Amino acid sequence: MQKAVVSRIGQYEIRLCDREDIPAVIEINAETLPEHYSDYFYFEILAEFPDTFLVAELGGKVVGYVMCRIEYGFSHVKRLGLARKGHVVSIAVLEAHRGKGIGTGLIRGAEEGVARKSGTEMYLEVRVKNTSAISLYEMLGYKPSGRMDSYYRDGEAALLMAAQIGQ
Ligand code: ACO
Ligand code: ZN
Repeated sequence: MQKAVVSRIGQYEIRLCDREDIPAVIEINAETLPEHYSDYFYFEILAEFPDTFLVAELGGKVVGYVMCRIEYGFSHVKRLGLARKGHVVSIAVLEAHRGKGIGTGLIRGAEEGVARKSGTEMYLEVRVKNTSAISLYEMLGYKPSGRMDSYYRDGEAALLMAAQIGQ
């Protein structure tokens, strides 16, 4: 089956996630992040927001993913008002494939998907101690927009980061 390629980074393809990719996505999540979800959750996000669920593939193997929700609510970048927002629920790249621009490609691809659905901003929560992810978001223009103490189960705080997109 022909899969919808969003971009290429060297030998890697960033493309839309397919139902068949979900087991690999779940495995990457289990290996790389302490926040896990039920299998149903991944399928539900894919069914509801297929344009912003992307995977990175190398030679037929999925090595990274990003999944988002599109929400409508208070803006994280404007001082007042409402906005249609892309919420990065989870992003991860297998350790052996990091530092090659895949995280950047996944986020940029997700932003394009959100913009096509009339979203004007992106936001996410990240552990305050996750310096590599925070550096990635900063490099991509995301700014801190809040902090939530004891956000994670182990008590770590979350930094909220957000960026305007699509102008
Ligand atoms: N230390 C410092 N800066 C880093 C690091 C690091 N270890 N990794 C990435 N960066 C920054 C750098 O600025 C880098 O630019 P450079 O390569 O020009 O120096 C920039 O991010 C881009 O890096 P990419 O290669 O595009 O990102 P990568 O493919 O390595 O993926 C990711 C980054 C997804 C954060 C990866 O490290 C990962 O999977 N980590 C574990 C899972 C995780 O923490 N996910 C985020 C949780 S928050 C959420 O899901 C909303
Ligand atoms: Zn979140």
